[in-house]
Amino acid sequence: MEVPASFLVVSLLLSCFAATGYGVTFSSLQKTLVVTASPTQGQVLKSGEEAITVTWAFNRTFPAGTDSAYKTIKVKLCYAPISQKDRSWRKTVDEMKKDKTCQPKIVAKPYSASNNSFTWTIERDIPSGTYFVRAYAFNDQDEEVAFGQTTNNKKDSNLFEIKAITGRHVSLDIASICFSAFSIVALAGFFYMEKSKGKAAQQK
Ligand SMILES: *[C@@H]1O[C@H](CO)[C@@H](O)[C@H](O)[C@H]1NC(C)=O
Ligand SMILES: *[C@@H]1O[C@H](CO)[C@@H](O)[C@H](O)[C@H]1NC(C)=O
Repeated sequence: MEVPASFLVVSLLLSCFAATGYGVTFSSLQKTLVVTASPTQGQVLKSGEEAITVTWAFNRTFPAGTDSAYKTIKVKLCYAPISQKDRSWRKTVDEMKKDKTCQPKIVAKPYSASNNSFTWTIERDIPSGTYFVRAYAFNDQDEEVAFGQTTNNKKDSNLFEIKAITGRHVSLDIASICFSAFSIVALAGFFYMEKSKGKAAQQK
């Protein structure tokens, strides 16, 4: 009997899921953290130069003790949907282990319900793009249990831009300086030749 290839693929996928188990999902996390960041909507910041100040706190409208399992906080820089488009390596996946929405870590700290603030100079290797900031609370098993973010659930409000100052940029600048220098030498040479031609004509 012939078994369709698609059936094989599906069973293989299913057995993988069964083997690895299904980890913590983003949709299961409580949004109990209030997170703010200094950039204003649409602000453009230069990597390697400008800084972002992030604050986070427990949202006190949740019952006291909701945060009793929170041990650490990790604050991350996250790609807005517009900067994820056609980039599978930044894809949002509900299973936290596979999610690539938030990659560059801003800071990790022991959990505290209030008065948290951190200023981070945007690292030079952060790619240009549209971003927001998200904080995750982890329990003592190092599993995400709660989060908060600077944007809304649709991730379309309060986004900011980072403009990368890359090495390529610098070499382009050098290339254009060299090109200008070359142009001046070439021009000077051209005028010199014209002048000699003129002299030669006069001598005839
Ligand atoms: C705190 O949580 C409540 C309930 O989810 C929500 O309505 C409120 O907007 C949150 N407060 C802040 C400042 O995010
Ligand atoms: C938070 O900081 C303010 C000002 O520095 C201080 O007055 C307050 O006691 C702090 N609160 C907590 C819970 O540490």
